Amino acid sequence: MSGTIEVRGLSRTFHTTVRRPGFTGALRSLVDPQRVAKHAVSDVTFDVAAGELLALLGPNGAGKSTTIKMLTGILTPTSGEARVAGVVPYRERERNARNIGAVFGQRTQLWWDLPVRESFAILKDIYGVPSAEHAVRLKEFDKLLDLSSFWDTRVRHLSLGQRVRCDLAAALLHDPPVVFLDEPTIGMDVVVKEQVREFLRHQVEERGRTVLLTTHDMTEVERLAERVVLINHGRLVLDGSLDEIRREFGSTWQVRATLADPYAEVVPLPGMAVLRREGARVVFGPDGDGAPAVHQALKAVIERYEVNDIALDEADLEDVMRAAYAQAGEA
Ligand SMILES: Nc1ncnc2c1ncn2[C@@H]1O[C@H](COP(=O)(O)OP(=O)(O)OP(=O)(O)O)[C@@H](O)[C@H]1O
Ligand SMILES: [Mg+2]
Repeated sequence: MSGTIEVRGLSRTFHTTVRRPGFTGALRSLVDPQRVAKHAVSDVTFDVAAGELLALLGPNGAGKSTTIKMLTGILTPTSGEARVAGVVPYRERERNARNIGAVFGQRTQLWWDLPVRESFAILKDIYGVPSAEHAVRLKEFDKLLDLSSFWDTRVRHLSLGQRVRCDLAAALLHDPPVVFLDEPTIGMDVVVKEQVREFLRHQVEERGRTVLLTTHDMTEVERLAERVVLINHGRLVLDGSLDEIRREFGSTWQVRATLADPYAEVVPLPGMAVLRREGARVVFGPDGDGAPAVHQALKAVIERYEVNDIALDEADLEDVMRAAYAQAGEA
C-alpha cells in the first residue's frame, strides 16, 4: 500500500455577503450586497509521507477542516495544488474516493435511517469489495472497535461515541491507503478514546496507512503523532516533530540528576543552565534560544556526568501548544 499527501501553496477563500444593520441597511444590502472575503486557507504547503501519521493542529477556525475538504475533493481550492496518492482530489473526486477514507467527527457519512450494518453493506457494493474480504474486515473492525453490540441499531439512535466508531469502520472498509480524520475522537469517553487510538496506531503501524488527523486533544497528539503541522488564520506557522515544537515553545523542562560524585564540578552544558545545586543533586533547565529538547538534554547530562539517578519534567503539551497558538496569533 502506498499513498502520500502533497500540498503546495493551497488556498481557499470564501466570499460571503454581510447584512448591514437596520431596515434601510437590509434594503441597501439587497441592491448592493456587501461582499467580504474570508481567507480560510492561505498558501499552505506540507507533505505527509506514506505510512506516516501527521497531526494537523490549530485553534477553532484555523482552516483545518477546509484543508481536509480540499484533500478529500469536497472543496476546490482558490489557488495552489494538492495530490493524494497521485490523484488531484478536486479534479478526480471519484478516483480519489477509492484511495481515501474520511471521517468527519462532527458529521456522519452513514445513512441516518439505516442500521449500521446496512450502511456497511451499501458501502461494500459502492466500492465493489468482495464478500469474503468484507466479512473479514468487519470481523477485524468489530474486534478492535467493539461494534457488534450496536451495529444492528439505526444510525440516528447511536450515541456520539458509537456513531464515530462506526464511521471509522465505514471509512476503512474499502481498505484505502490514505485516511483523513477530522476530530475522530470527538465525544468519546476515555475508555473508547484509548480503544480508538489503539485502532489508529494499528492502522498506521500494521497496515501502513497514511493518516492526516485533526484533534483538539493533545494527549492524542502525543500518543499518535510524530510530526505536527500547525496552522492559524489559514496560514502554516509550524511544521515539525513534537520535539522541535517543545524546543521552540515549551521552554519549561527540567532535568534532575543525582551525581555519583557530590563534589563534581558542574559546568553548564550548551543551551542548558544549572538552575539549582545541593550537593549531589543538580537541576538543569533550558537556557536561551539554543536550548535542546528535553530528551536531548537528558542524553547530554548522562554523557557528561556519572549519575546515580536522573528524572525529567517536561512541559505539558497543552501548555506548549497554548504558547504556540498565542505566538501564531500575534503573527
Ligand atoms: N463554506 C464556508 N463559507 C464561509 N466561510 C467558511 C466556510 N467554511 C469555513 N469557513 C470559515 O473558514 C474558516 C476556517 O474554518 P474551518 O472549518 O476550516 O476551521 P477549523 O480549523 O476546522 O476549526 P475547528 O477547530 O473549529 O473545527 C472559519 O473562519 C470559517 O468560518
Ligand atoms: Mg474543523
